[in-house]
Amino acid sequence: MKVIKVKNYDELSKVAADIIADLLKENPKATLGLATGSSPIGLYQNLIKKYEKGEISFKDVKTYNLDEYCELPKSHPESYYSFMHRNLFSHVDIKEENVHIPCSEGSDLEKLCKEYNDLLHKASIDLQLLGIGANGHIGFNEPNTSFEQETFVVKLTEKTRKDNQRFFNSLDEVPTHAMTMGIKNIMQAKKILLVASGANKQDAVKKLLSGEVTESFPASVLNNHPDVTVIVDEEAAKLLND
Ligand code: GLP
Repeated sequence: MKVIKVKNYDELSKVAADIIADLLKENPKATLGLATGSSPIGLYQNLIKKYEKGEISFKDVKTYNLDEYCELPKSHPESYYSFMHRNLFSHVDIKEENVHIPCSEGSDLEKLCKEYNDLLHKASIDLQLLGIGANGHIGFNEPNTSFEQETFVVKLTEKTRKDNQRFFNSLDEVPTHAMTMGIKNIMQAKKILLVASGANKQDAVKKLLSGEVTESFPASVLNNHPDVTVIVDEEAAKLLND
């Protein structure tokens, strides 16, 4: 695992965007696995700037998002569909048909999971971007999810719902379930880029980099992947020994 330590969120966002931009320059038809949450917003802003300057294009890029809340219509401002369009897709030249986000609107969630999973089996993700939950979740794979798990509907832990409450008016409004790529799907990406920023991630970063691999801490599985880069800022890295 390669660890890049940076000063703050701004620098993290620049360094992460440079890694993705370099990949798109080398392979304009790359397939990206994308993430939501606060962590990637700055890097998406930097990618938009690079697109506006003509340095990169998303014309032939395909994307697959990690997860989506159940119970929220796509049009809800906090759906991950809305998040991705607001923070990246509406500002670049990506084709809507190349955008894939799990669809959790509908009564047959099993069928929708299978459809997304089948799409992932056909795709070959060149780079998967990840944030990390304070409890070590990646995507919405909560602690004690099997490393063999593929796309599924997960009941969110109270910790995760409380962490995400800041995006909603109250805890009651935070969905209780989400559809997420499983850990097995995430591990199939060729490269993984994880970004962690802020004091809230100190414990998670320490556990991730301790090297211990355990299903009680989902992100620890990344220690078994051959090509992972972790970018951490000073606050998130505070508990690491240099
Ligand atoms: C959310 C998302 C994850 C994200 C994590 C951290 O619940 N499902 O993909 O990595 O929480 O979010 P943030 O970056 O806002 O701390």
